[in-house]
Amino acid sequence: MAGIKRVVFLVVLTFQWTFVKADTEVSCIFMERCMLPCSYGGSDVVIHWHQVSAGDITVHSFYHNKDQLEHQNQRFRGRTSLFNDQISTGNASLQLTKVEVRDEGKYKCYTSTIDGNKESFINLKIDAPIQKVSIQQVGNIITCSSEGIYPKPELTWSTSPSSNITSKNITVQPTERLLYNISSSLIPSSSDRDLKYSCTISTRRNGEKATLFKPNPPNDSSQSLHPNQLRATIGGIIGGLFVIAVLAAVLWWMKIKGCITSSPY
Ligand SMILES: *[C@@H]1O[C@H](CO)[C@@H](O)[C@H](O)[C@H]1NC(C)=O
Ligand SMILES: *[C@@H]1O[C@H](CO)[C@@H](O)[C@H](O)[C@H]1NC(C)=O
Ligand SMILES: *[C@@H]1O[C@H](CO)[C@@H](O)[C@H](O)[C@H]1NC(C)=O
Ligand SMILES: *[C@@H]1O[C@H](CO)[C@@H](O)[C@H](O)[C@H]1NC(C)=O
Ligand SMILES: *[C@@H]1O[C@H](CO)[C@@H](O)[C@H](O)[C@H]1NC(C)=O
Repeated sequence: MAGIKRVVFLVVLTFQWTFVKADTEVSCIFMERCMLPCSYGGSDVVIHWHQVSAGDITVHSFYHNKDQLEHQNQRFRGRTSLFNDQISTGNASLQLTKVEVRDEGKYKCYTSTIDGNKESFINLKIDAPIQKVSIQQVGNIITCSSEGIYPKPELTWSTSPSSNITSKNITVQPTERLLYNISSSLIPSSSDRDLKYSCTISTRRNGEKATLFKPNPPNDSSQSLHPNQLRATIGGIIGGLFVIAVLAAVLWWMKIKGCITSSPY
């Protein structure tokens, strides 16, 4: 029975594979150029590109042998083009420049010729990869951060040798361009001062790690000398040496004058 079920399941799967064409997945980098592929057969073509996921808005149209942009949504103004010299060969691919996070989603390529109509779907994903992870210590607090990331990043701390890190306070802030800034701070406990601290920030596209080799000693004034204190200390030492030298000179002078004599009479 189980064997028969499996065979039926496989037949159904194969059937679906053959007759329901999956959306094409395309992944592009934030602010870069991106191509959404589409092709057709026939001549005298009408092409309509729509962003279905944003309410079926018009991205780009082409008919009567030229671009028709009067109904183009203003979000796409000046950012779209077709490969004009290749349209006659069946190439209806759309080129999108300076891609934004809002461009992410599902697109439809509709083509129509005397031979018939065709619809195909593209699923566009946008990534703003992690550029740089900074780790720094200010006072007693170690902070790890990175900016301008999409999609939402993950942040993890680790130490070498390994230890339990407590109070990792992770803050993720969305920016006006729908990217994310992320940061996390921790205060090493006094027993953890010889550890190497690492922070890793990652998204589906990439991950970056930054390491702080040795935290500074705790910043409390009883253990460290302030520059002014240091100056006072050095001043004190020099002053002391001067007093000793003067005393010695006075004693030596008194000895010459015979006020002091070491030899008994
Ligand atoms: C359309 O033309 C562009 C530019 O030459 C090419 O990169 C792309 O692969 C072509 N797409 C199709 C579907 O033919
Ligand atoms: C130590 O702490 C004091 C006051 O909290 C601050 O003014 C000073 O800049 C700190 N020094 C260092 C080296 O972080
Ligand atoms: C970390 O904490 C867990 C439970 O809180 C404890 O079992 C484990 O021994 C700790 N490990 C270290 C290295 O302190
Ligand atoms: C976490 O960080 C935020 C912002 O820096 C701060 O307002 C909050 O008090 C912190 N929470 C803890 C538990 O440290
Ligand atoms: C995110 O980081 C950028 C670069 O440091 C900064 O200009 C921006 O104000 C930050 N946005 C938020 C919401 O924190």
